[in-house]
Order: sequence, then structure tokens, then C-alpha cells
Amino acid sequence: MTNLITAQISTPKVGYISVLYLAAVSSLLAQVCSAVKREDFRTCEQSAFCNRHRVFAETMLKKTQALDKGSTIPQTASPYSVLENSVSLDGHTLVASVQHSEEKIPLKFELSFMESGVVRFRAQEEEPLTPRFDDTQKLVLREEGTALPYASPGSIELVTEVIDKVTTHTVSYLKGNSTFSVRMAESPWSLDYLVDNKPTIRLNTKGLFRFEYLRQKPASDEADTASGEWEEKFKTWTDSKPNGPESFGMDISFSGFEHVYGIPEHSSPLSLKDTRGGDKNAYDQPYRLYNLDVFEYELDNPMALYGSIPFMVAHNAESTVGVFWMNAAETWIDVTREKSNTLGSLFSRGSTKQMPAVNTHWVSESGVLDVFLLPGPNTADVYRQYAELVEPTPLPRAFSLGYHQCRWNYIDQEDVLSVSSKLEEHEIPYDVIWLDIEHTDGKRYFTWDSAKFPDPTAMQNELARAGHKLVNVVDPHIKRDSAYRVWKEASDNGYFVKTRDGSEDFQGWCWPGDSNWVDYFNPDACKWISEQFHIDHYNQSTENLFVWNDMNEPSVFNGPEITMDKDARHHGGWEHRDVHNIFGMLYHKATADGLRTRESPSKRPFVLSRAYFAGSQRYGAIWTGDNTAEWSHLQASIPMVLSNNVAGLHFIGADVGGFFGNPDQKLLTRWYQLGIWYPFFRAHAHIDTKRREPWLLGEPYLSHIRDAIRERYRLLPYWYTLFREASITGMPIVRPMWIEFPLETKLFAEQDAFMVGSAIMVVPATDSNTNQVIDVAFPSQENWYDIKTHASYIGPAKRQFSVDLSTTLVFARGGSVIATRERHRSSSDLMKRDPFTVYVYVGRNGTAGGRLYVDDGDTYDYEQGAFIERELSFSEAKLTSRASTQTKDTPAYQEYLKKMATVRVERLVVVGLRNPLTKATVAENGVTREIELSYRGAANDAECVVRDPAVHIGEDWEITLS
Ligand code: NOJ
Repeated sequence: MTNLITAQISTPKVGYISVLYLAAVSSLLAQVCSAVKREDFRTCEQSAFCNRHRVFAETMLKKTQALDKGSTIPQTASPYSVLENSVSLDGHTLVASVQHSEEKIPLKFELSFMESGVVRFRAQEEEPLTPRFDDTQKLVLREEGTALPYASPGSIELVTEVIDKVTTHTVSYLKGNSTFSVRMAESPWSLDYLVDNKPTIRLNTKGLFRFEYLRQKPASDEADTASGEWEEKFKTWTDSKPNGPESFGMDISFSGFEHVYGIPEHSSPLSLKDTRGGDKNAYDQPYRLYNLDVFEYELDNPMALYGSIPFMVAHNAESTVGVFWMNAAETWIDVTREKSNTLGSLFSRGSTKQMPAVNTHWVSESGVLDVFLLPGPNTADVYRQYAELVEPTPLPRAFSLGYHQCRWNYIDQEDVLSVSSKLEEHEIPYDVIWLDIEHTDGKRYFTWDSAKFPDPTAMQNELARAGHKLVNVVDPHIKRDSAYRVWKEASDNGYFVKTRDGSEDFQGWCWPGDSNWVDYFNPDACKWISEQFHIDHYNQSTENLFVWNDMNEPSVFNGPEITMDKDARHHGGWEHRDVHNIFGMLYHKATADGLRTRESPSKRPFVLSRAYFAGSQRYGAIWTGDNTAEWSHLQASIPMVLSNNVAGLHFIGADVGGFFGNPDQKLLTRWYQLGIWYPFFRAHAHIDTKRREPWLLGEPYLSHIRDAIRERYRLLPYWYTLFREASITGMPIVRPMWIEFPLETKLFAEQDAFMVGSAIMVVPATDSNTNQVIDVAFPSQENWYDIKTHASYIGPAKRQFSVDLSTTLVFARGGSVIATRERHRSSSDLMKRDPFTVYVYVGRNGTAGGRLYVDDGDTYDYEQGAFIERELSFSEAKLTSRASTQTKDTPAYQEYLKKMATVRVERLVVVGLRNPLTKATVAENGVTREIELSYRGAANDAECVVRDPAVHIGEDWEITLS
């Protein structure tokens, strides 16, 4: 971040810079080029509520261990019990009063069953002293939480019985052949989610549940400031804590599991590590969720980064389950593993198999305890259940899946157009060129530096000629300048976040110097900021302009941990602490709403954001922030992108090339070769780095990079089809191996290889020694085909490959059908009517299947049925194309079919056919033709090519090989 400030003050247009600002800048300058300043960010010990819960946990874990005798009902030292006669079943919700043995403040517990088997557990004081922030549900859940499909009361049954001398209440819900039940023990309080009578997700079985009830502040000399309950200091900042302690924590154990994933954003491995020290591989800090602008972040670290998704998934060979802890305040999560827990003997059904568990401990600073338990039982179920809560990723604008060329900064209009024409000259397709903060008039967003950009409209129109788009950065801080219309309007209308006593606008520093922040919790302010993106407000913007929201954690250079003070006030009187992790998402939403409503009829927006929360997938893409041009960062980008996909945030990528520093040609080449497999594919670089557009690297690097980018474009139909699938099923786009091969225990922690959808396995080369040997483990009893050479391999097997910079290891899975577009164009927009090539990768049993989804890529007409979605299935040497079951014969469908009437399949390639065949019989609309086959390659790896079968993409047809 410091480098960024250096650059900022060296621009001529900064204007007023306060003395204080300069002092801070010079202290920050000392950090230039150093790694993360850990001391700028709190550890759990330095975060009072985290520390209180962790200390409590240490004592409880010891006590509970001493009590645990391996009984069905957990024996813990928890001080919380259900009050006698307080349990009742109200429709789909079990209600109970729970109390601490000494505190005597009744807490209301609610357990609700949803139709899918998801259980929602909520807890807060029965009568809180002041209301707790409970709008997270409105901001995160589908239809503001009003439309959650709860189970019908008749399908639920409550049984109260005494087990192991403990009174228990079991709510059971029958679904299909499974029984889902939640068993609550009265004293001490604990809760087991049982699937077919076997505990999977378990709450408070370690006794770590602790709820800090809201209380009156004691007389000032008694108020406990030492433990940070009523005031907390960090470096030079004081957090006034007007509500005192209000945090809560709880242990959640995953019984029978060894691996948990998700809870991004961290730069840590895919399979989450233990966090309570001990093992040399373990962290000694919990995973932290608190959106922060971390300068030069460290790898392999549970420190917080720019985004937070409190969704964790556990997987074993029998099932997949999930936990969604819906809280927008600062949250910490400890993870530990038990090799064998005492439940083992009770539930291993007579076998001597040990039962492992992953124990997690979640702690949030404020708000309401609101957690969803997702029972699976398989991965697709978990993603359906999660998408039902927070909505899946909607279909993005098609161009946004292409290549994005970014840098801080393309200097001026001429530079932009010259980069664009250079890419064209070198036959490198790209879709979007980006402008960073320097394009503005002194960091006043929605304006242009008119000396550098004399005619932005002409520039956008010129880009549009070849289907290219422009993205401008529009950050959330607003320069305090009464001559700046945007600031003036927001200030006059009272739209800014306020200081702790609500009397003034909260002020801080960011790129423009003194700034204010629009309060997105104020609906009027949101509507107003959305309108700023409309073409009549955003001067010299066109429909060809899209937006990048950066610094929206929010980043406040002079704030505690480089963010907003926790006691700043939002609309409704809420403290920033209550809503911190959701702030960035609301700006992302407001921007996307603005772009969506700027045209009529609406078009899909494209907005990239740095900060995020659960639900951000609805508003656009995310990138992993300021990485570094080092091999280790290239490697770390894989688990980062996968962890987000596991947590339902699909449209994500890392800056290709690394933001800080100068990658050498090899690193940059390898980064492109991996980057084409990120769902969001953008090259970006810091202002102090050397220019690194692909043609500047010279040969052979330029050719390797061109090949990689073209491979992305060739497969755009596959990517778009995957996004379509995700928009319906919630399934990740890029997938850890365990998602596709759920029984292969050896792959549960694999992150050196991953799947793109279910048909492509990528084994990236990420070593600085670019001539290396890479081990590939081909999973499952299936054929795998090198996607370029079509050489085939049979899994399960391990093979070693010697690679050099020209080699990438990418394999198509036998049994898949993939549609591609293979003509080179300078943008995806120009490919919209191009013909397709269909690849059939024959599976072991001689069959294959896949899907192709196409629509106009821009509008919402697909919601009216204006799309083509084909099921492509191959068996007995015949490829059939049929409309998918989603296809509906609506007027919009018919109209779209007409538009696409001439779009055809220009080639069919069947890979892995054993029998030599000679001809293809093509049948479409009652007309039959024969075409001679041609073969390429050696016997076993032969590919058989049907040239120009000329079948139409919107029609039913069959191609039979004989
Ligand atoms: C920080 C962002 O992470 C980076 O991508 C951007 O270039 C700079 N801000 C300047 O806007």
C-alpha cells in the first residue's frame, strides 16, 4: 500500500495534503518493498473478544476432556443448560430457553428445519438490553430471508427422552430414505445433527459455547477495561465499545471427518490446517475473517485478507456437510483435529475403525448467533443447499470470461488504444482493457483527467469497434472537496458514515487524501450511488464501460488495521463493528445495480470487487488482491481460488504476473498458463513495475502466452456452460479433486491438480525450474486424454511427465463431450456467431456426455427462454444432440433460435475410439448425409475427425460413425 501512496503524492493533481497526512505517508514510506507489517494487524491475543474466548476454550477443553467417558450424549463442563419446561415445537421450529448457571440471563434458542434438511440455529438474549444487529439475514439470504423453504410442520416430530441420564429432545425429519434429526441435550446443553442416527455436525460437545449478554456499563472505576470489555486499545487507536462485551462463540465438530475446507479469504492450503499450535505444520493463530487491505500479504498464514465467507465444508468418503455461520462482524475460527474421538466405539458399527473428527471453534464479536447446518449428504447436495440460502452465481456477462488486460496505470488515451492495437497485431484475443485510479481528475471518481483522456467517449467507441470493453476503477472513498459534485451531493444529503457519536461525517485518508465513505446501509444513499453509474451522471461513460470497486474493505490508510474504526456509526445507529465484513459487498451490489439499471432493457453488469462476503457472488467477480511476482504466489493462487470456489464464490482469479515486483519471462509465461484456468482471468501490475504486456517478452514467451490465451478463448463455450451450471446448481466452477472423486481419500488434500468443471483436469507447472518432471495421478477407472496431443492415459495410475516451458499438462476426462470455438478473433464478442467444434472423449465404457449452453451473453432474455442448451451424448458410436430439460419453447426461444439459425458444428472430433471406422452418417431434420472420416494419430490415441457435419446448434441431430 505504501508504494501506492508514493505514486499518489507524486501525481500533480493531488492538491491539498495535510501535515498529518504527510507525516503518515512518510512513516508508511519506510515500509516500501518490505513484506507484510504483521504488527499492523491484530493477533487473537490482541483482539479482546477473541482472546477471552480462546482463554475460556483452553480451560473448558481440559475440563471436558476429564469428563468425557465416551457416552452417546456429550459430557462437558459447559455452564449452559436448557431451562426446565422451556422446550416447545412451534411449526418447523424448536424453541428453548437456555441459561448460564451463574449469569441467569435466559437466551432464546431456535432450531428450524428446512425442506432440504438444512437446520438453522439462532441464539440471542430473550430480552436483549439493546437490539443486536440482525439484518445480516436481509442482506445475505435469498429474497432477504423471506422465502426460505422451511419444512412443513407435519413432517417433523419431537421426541423427549432420557438418554445416559440426560433429558434430550430430538426433532426428526424424514426425507426420502434418510432420517435427519437434531438431538438437543438439556444439561449441559449440546446439540447433535444426526443423519440416519449417526452424529455428523455437533455443537457444544466440547463445552465452548459462550454468550456475552448485553449488560449495563458498570461505574467507570469498575468497568473492566483490562480485558477490553468496555474499551480497547490497539496501537494509537481506542475503540470506545459503547455496548461493552457482546460476543459469542461455540464449538462445532465434524464427526468422522479429517478434512475441512473453505472460510476464505486466506493464503493457506486448501485443506485447512490446525490452528492451536503443537504440530510444526500447525498455525498458532485462528483463521480470521475481517476484511482488510493487507500490504504484501504473507503466504501460508491464517491472517485476514480482503474478503470473508464464513462457510466451511467437511468431506469424507461417506459424505459432505457444511456449516454457514452467518455473521458480518469480525470472526475467528480455530481448527483442531482428533485422530479418534470417544464416539468411535459407539458409532463405528462394530468395526474397530477409529473415528476421527475436526473440531472447530467459531467466535464473532457482535450480532446474533445464526448458523446453518448443511447435511449434504453429497457434495452436490451441499451446494444446492447453500445456493438455496444465498443464491448461486448468476450468469455473468459473456465477455467477462475473456482475457482482461490491466495495469496501474495505462497512462493516457493513446496508451490504451496502442495496447489494444498491439494485442490485435500480435493476434492475442482480449476482451477488456482497464484503467486504474490515475485516469481520474485527482482521484475524484466518475471524472477523467482531461489532459490524459481528452475524449473518453471516442476512446470507448474505438475499443468497441472490435468488441473490446473498458473497465474503470471507482473506489468507495470520496474526496472531501466542496467543488466535487459527488462529494457535495453526498454531504448535503447526509449520506456518509458517521463518527462514533453520530454528530459528524467519518473522515479518513485514502488515495485522494481526506475522504468520506458513503453509508451503504442507508437505502437512499445506495440508490443515489447506484445512479452515479448511469450514463447521464457518469460523465463521458458509455454502455461499453464497466466498473472495478477497489479498497472497499474499506481501506482507510490512517485507521486501525488500515480500516474503519469499529465504533463509527451507520444508518440505523449500528456500529461499524456489527457490519464490517458486509460493507464491501454492499458497495459491490450498489455498483452492479447501477450498471444494471443504466440501460433499458437491462443488461447484465460486470463489476470486479476486492472485498467480499457470502452473497458477493451475486454481484460480480472478485480477485485475490495484491499478490507478488514470485513463484510461491503463483503456487498459492491455486488453493486460494479453489477455497473460494468451495465456499460458493466462483468468479475469482489472482492477478496474472503478480501485482508487486517484476516477474521474469518464465514466471510470467507460467502465470498465463495457469491464469487461463482461473474463472476470472486478468493480468495486472503495480505502477512501479516494468511494463509486461505479452509482446514485450519476446519469443518464445510471446508465443507461449498467445497459445495460452487462445486456449482460453477456444474453451469459452465450455466456461460459459459451466457458469450456466453453477447458476442453477451452485456447483463450483473450478473444483478440488475431491469434489469430482469423492471416494479417493488420497486426493482429499490435493492442490497441485484441480478440475475445471467435471471434464478437464489441470496440473499446473509452478516451479521456477521450468524444465521439470511432474507427477500426475490420474484418478478413477477412467481414460484421460492430453487436451492438445490427445495421448491417452488410463486411471488410476501415476505417471511422470518431463515438461518445458512449451508444455502444459491438461487432460480431458474420458466420458466427456466438450464444445469449442476455434477461429481466432480479437474478442469474444466477435465469436458470437462462429461455428463450433465438438470433441467427444470416449470413456472406458465407450460412452460420453456433455452439455453446451449459449445465449446472447449480454441481456436477461435467457430468463424468458432465449437460450440454446443441448445435451450431447455419445454411445454406440453415435453422437446425439437434444434440447436440455431446461429448454422451454417460448417466443423468446424461437426468436433466439432464428438468430442462431446459421450457427453450425464445423467439425466433430472423436478421441479414443478403438475400432477403425470409415464414415459418418449425419441426420438432421429428416435429411441424411454421409461424410468420409479422417484419422489422425496412432492406433490407441487415434482421433477421428468428421469435417463439417454442418449440423445446426439449435436443432436435434445425430451423427453415427460406422
Ligand atoms: C490496490 C489494488 O489492490 C490494486 O489492484 C490497484 O492497482 C491499486 N489499489 C491502485 O488502485
